[in-house]
Amino acid sequence: MNPPQPRTPRREGNRAPRRRRKFPSWEGRRGGLVHAGDRTIHELMAMIHSIKKPSARAPRLDWPLMHNNITRSDLDAVIEFLKQNDPILTQSQNVRAFEAEWSEWLGVQHSVFVNSGASANLVTMAALRETFGPGEIIVPTLAWVSDVASVIQCGFKPVFVDINPRTLGMNTDQVLQKITPSTKAVFLTHVLGYNALDERLLNALKNRNVPLIEDVCESYGGTFRGRKLGTFGLMSNFSFYYAHHMSTIEGGMISTNDTRLYETVRMFRSHGMAREADSSEVKQSYRDKFPDLNPDFIFAFPAYNVRSTEINAVIGRSQLKRLDRNNQIRTSNLKLFLENLDSAKYRTDFELEGSCNYAFTLILKRPDPALSKSVEAALREARVEFRRGTAGGGNQLRQPYARQYVGEREFEKYPQVDHVHFFGYYIGNYPDLDQEKILKLCALLNSLG
Ligand SMILES: Cc1ncc(COP(=O)(O)O)c(C=O)c1O
Repeated sequence: MNPPQPRTPRREGNRAPRRRRKFPSWEGRRGGLVHAGDRTIHELMAMIHSIKKPSARAPRLDWPLMHNNITRSDLDAVIEFLKQNDPILTQSQNVRAFEAEWSEWLGVQHSVFVNSGASANLVTMAALRETFGPGEIIVPTLAWVSDVASVIQCGFKPVFVDINPRTLGMNTDQVLQKITPSTKAVFLTHVLGYNALDERLLNALKNRNVPLIEDVCESYGGTFRGRKLGTFGLMSNFSFYYAHHMSTIEGGMISTNDTRLYETVRMFRSHGMAREADSSEVKQSYRDKFPDLNPDFIFAFPAYNVRSTEINAVIGRSQLKRLDRNNQIRTSNLKLFLENLDSAKYRTDFELEGSCNYAFTLILKRPDPALSKSVEAALREARVEFRRGTAGGGNQLRQPYARQYVGEREFEKYPQVDHVHFFGYYIGNYPDLDQEKILKLCALLNSLG
């Protein structure tokens, strides 16, 4: 028997003859449009167009969404920690130390480490509800699900606004229009590293006494007027999920300068237990008020357990040491990407001042289904991992969980986010990304269309 033949790769000039495509026969004019079978002239032209322009051969780039975000040195730090005799693994001194180091890095008084960014969102909204009572929260249409879900879960009414295409953050005009006497906060997301704050928004919120909550999960290290994002709001949230600027495997942080909220958040993190408060006066006040209870088990709020562990904190402390250096590389990578991208086909006019991105935003300039199809095919062929809709799956109002709150067709009222939903992508940006690859990717993307 003959041995199986190895498959020969197809080369130029060695191609199997192409099968002729069958075209439907022309049937003449109907109602002013030429039809062939059931197709309009426009559909036929699109078919012909796609045949005339085969996609350029994509280089193989092998580019995941994130790479090497937990390094050997982080793992070595964990191993060192585990070598101790009987180490405490549940929340303890390393969590405390990580919170203090994070607060110092950010420039705030207090931080609380939790097990994810989504938990940071949830506990923030729970503490807000506990402090200010029910009402409306203004939220973006482009965000992660937990930015909206936490609002709903805590009994607030989410009020949506469209995005500013140059920052992907909330449209300031719409935020200001939607503030009512029932507004309890504006819960803003800094999307994919771009600063979403502006002077007008900050002044208006201050004058109208509306608290700002910042979700900085995708943008830490970013700044506005030279000050770190996450220091402007009453509370701010961070995520240390693997695909973000730094990672504790899973993890999140809540930061604030408000001591009362800090105490509330600490209790909400741990079953609502009064003994979790930092201040001895707060703990004592509960003991005095409820003398019939065991002081170890006073449950002040109907809360959660979203604690993290010492191991995650050890990784976080090791990671934090190189965050600034990594972020500088990421920022120059993004600039290189945007400078080399064809601005006639893709948006390149993002507001870069103060940005700090772990992702490249690739957003088509115009709604062009043919181009988006070839972008997706080329990225797949080049083995570049991507996400359509940018972070969070695009327009939140199209998601099933949101439709039941706002109505089936509400998403139609937000055209800017809808463009990103269908024609926006993100691609990973990490410190050891080869700059040659960035240029090759731009050349590939520019050749499409
Ligand atoms: C803006 C934003 N908020 C919150 C989260 C939730 O963070 P985590 O995945 O750590 O739960 C994410 C997650 O990617 C996010 O992008």
